[in-house]
Amino acid sequence: MNESIILGIESSCDDTSAAIIVGNKILSNIAANQEIHNLYGGVVPELASRAHQQNIIPVVKQCISKANIQQNDIAAIGFTRGPGLLGSLLVGTSFAKSLAMSLNVPLIEVNHLQAHILAHFIEDANPVPPKFPFLCLTVSGGHTMIVLVKDYFEMQVIGKTMDDAAGEAFDKIGKILGLDYPAGPIIDRLAKEGNENAFKFNKPRLENYDYSFSGIKTSVLYFIQKELKKNPDFIKENMNDLCASVQKSIVEILMEKLQKAAADLGIHEVAIAGGVSANSRLRAAMTENQEKVGWQIYIPKFEYTTDNAAMIAMVAKLKFERGEFADLSVSATARYDLVSELEQGKG
Ligand code: KG4
Ligand code: ZN
Repeated sequence: MNESIILGIESSCDDTSAAIIVGNKILSNIAANQEIHNLYGGVVPELASRAHQQNIIPVVKQCISKANIQQNDIAAIGFTRGPGLLGSLLVGTSFAKSLAMSLNVPLIEVNHLQAHILAHFIEDANPVPPKFPFLCLTVSGGHTMIVLVKDYFEMQVIGKTMDDAAGEAFDKIGKILGLDYPAGPIIDRLAKEGNENAFKFNKPRLENYDYSFSGIKTSVLYFIQKELKKNPDFIKENMNDLCASVQKSIVEILMEKLQKAAADLGIHEVAIAGGVSANSRLRAAMTENQEKVGWQIYIPKFEYTTDNAAMIAMVAKLKFERGEFADLSVSATARYDLVSELEQGKG
């Protein structure tokens, strides 16, 4: 093999993941999800950090063995530096540093949000990769933004949420409905059996390409409280319709701004990334636009949508080629903007 073998490590939230990449091809991508948080209706940072400590060695070992390589074949190690939960990030960062030191290979720091977007360039993420410039709706549990991607490392955030992220809206509304965490995938599943026009919820009216999701959450909460007074079984009797209607509203909010941005900028290459891009209704809405408006759409393979180390390895590979290495004094950072405020012209 001529191309270098790179290990990627992801530990920003509640998934401990490791992946091996060679060129743009993933040889293995292992993730240990932390089910403990389901009991608490959300990620408990202290428990997440502890679970990462327990998972990281077995996950990395399994990843190396599944890739059918030796530890000494690794040419560089990429890790998520942020954004995310500090206690979680610290585990991956410290592990990556120690391993890089013991193998005497370069260390590469990766921005988690950039990784969600650049996951599109993993060999089997799409039939063909997106062409620059493209728009990428990046939607996860912590972030919602429309990014104009001019090149691998030249990105501009043109719109973002003013309050909750879209995934957070799915999860918080799911909690109101009594669903487990994370509720996004459960709502997606239950919505398939429901009528999405059964209930209507308020939509935000924001200028430009920015989003807001706290309004829909409050609108659902008040509506449910009112209905429960009349019928204590209201949620149970209408669960599928509620899920379908909530999902439709969130997807419509997401798509309206994305459509506006694409039309205003005259861009037809449109991608989605992040955990919420696993949503089947959002995927269907993207396909509708492909047919109606002539978008060329990019929807990453399912395993590259929610948090994974394959995307971290992908960015590490791109940085490796550019010789962008971190030194051992690098530290994890909970806040790590995709593009600095200054570069966005807002500083
Ligand atoms: O990217 P991700 O794994 O972690 C963050 O960086 O936040 O995204 C997790 C989020 C959660 O809010 C989860 O509910 C949501 O993605 N999610 C979904 C689906 N799968 C995951 N939301 C809606 N529909 C889905 N199928
Ligand atoms: Zn993420």
